[in-house]
Amino acid sequence: MPSLNQQFERIRQSATVAMADRILALKASGQPIIGLQVGDPDFGTPPAVLDAASKAMQSGFTHYGPSTGYPELRQAIAAKLMRDEGLAYDPGTQILVTHGGIHAYYTALQAILNPGEEVLVPDPTWATHANMVVMLRGNVVRVPAPAENGFIPYLDSWERALTPKTRAIVLNYPSNPTGAYPTREYLEKLQAFAKAHDLWVISDEVYGSLYYGDRPTSVAAVEGARERTLLVNSLSKTYAMTGWRVGFLAAPARVIGNALKAGQNSITCVAPFVQKAAAFALTDPAIQEATAQMRSAYARRRDLVLRIARELDSSKVLVTPPQGAFYFFLDVRPLHQSSVEICERILEEAKVGLVPGSAFGEQGEGFLRMTIAAADEDVEAGFRNIIQWAEAEQR
Ligand SMILES: Cc1ncc(COP(=O)(O)O)c(C=O)c1O
Repeated sequence: MPSLNQQFERIRQSATVAMADRILALKASGQPIIGLQVGDPDFGTPPAVLDAASKAMQSGFTHYGPSTGYPELRQAIAAKLMRDEGLAYDPGTQILVTHGGIHAYYTALQAILNPGEEVLVPDPTWATHANMVVMLRGNVVRVPAPAENGFIPYLDSWERALTPKTRAIVLNYPSNPTGAYPTREYLEKLQAFAKAHDLWVISDEVYGSLYYGDRPTSVAAVEGARERTLLVNSLSKTYAMTGWRVGFLAAPARVIGNALKAGQNSITCVAPFVQKAAAFALTDPAIQEATAQMRSAYARRRDLVLRIARELDSSKVLVTPPQGAFYFFLDVRPLHQSSVEICERILEEAKVGLVPGSAFGEQGEGFLRMTIAAADEDVEAGFRNIIQWAEAEQR
């Protein structure tokens, strides 16, 4: 038997996917499970975006398109970056249209990483941030982002993780799973660190539009950072377009040159009718209004959870308000069980689907990720069930 690619032995099956499979199986057997495990908006894609895609299909945009993305879409992305972040990117040379944020991350790493080089990845974080590095034959160095520091790494932790092989650092703000994001001052210090050691900064901002207080600063907006920043973003979360698979990488032109080769040789192009719909979604004023309404719904559900948390005042499930994204990272350390064990028991006994914090790294142990990208009734009932279950454990 020929051997396989050994890199994949270092990649664990995603706990989020495994949980989703179990929940589907339980639901299929007729059990009334409340699913609070997904990272997918519960809203439909705005109907006008469906129309734009449909019109594009009818008009013949069903063949290969440009690998860089249509100029119209790259311009729409540049306009979005200016509108939302005050960032000026040249649509001709500094933007690549990708197959979702995940592919933007893939092309970014492909563009800069050589085998055996190290990438500093915060812990906890979305599993793909580490897995992709491994897939591309790099090495992951985890930088603790502990709960006691608001899930942001201490600045000297980045320093300590550094070796002569370090090539890049990964940021994801607001974070999946914690919703945390740092101050501009922190990012300025991090930029100075990246500059001092000549590192690339890959900034995954797919939750960049979902925040509940002051707008998070993009590291690309920090003075001097642009030349080393690879900005990853997508329409998935903001526009409720996860299944459309469209995102982008914004980076210095020479990075985009490599990323384009990675994109061209892996997917050829993003489906042309999807690109047309994406350009419409990014620029149409009514769609921006629709996304603002989705954001208010997430804020309402966040308040709902916080209200119930105050009302029930559990000593077993500790709740910190997320700053951004659409997750709560519930602190269940008082239960003194592993997050996988708790997750399994909550699924079986309280009938709520969650993701164990350990799926996001060691620092996530003792936490559970609960989404608020679900109907208000489900968020309320699910959260109450979790607390009730945890309080019963106490007795
Ligand atoms: C932090 C983070 N980055 C990127 C992605 C991928 O997004 P996309 O659907 O745009 O590929 C996700 C999806 O869950 C995510 O949580």
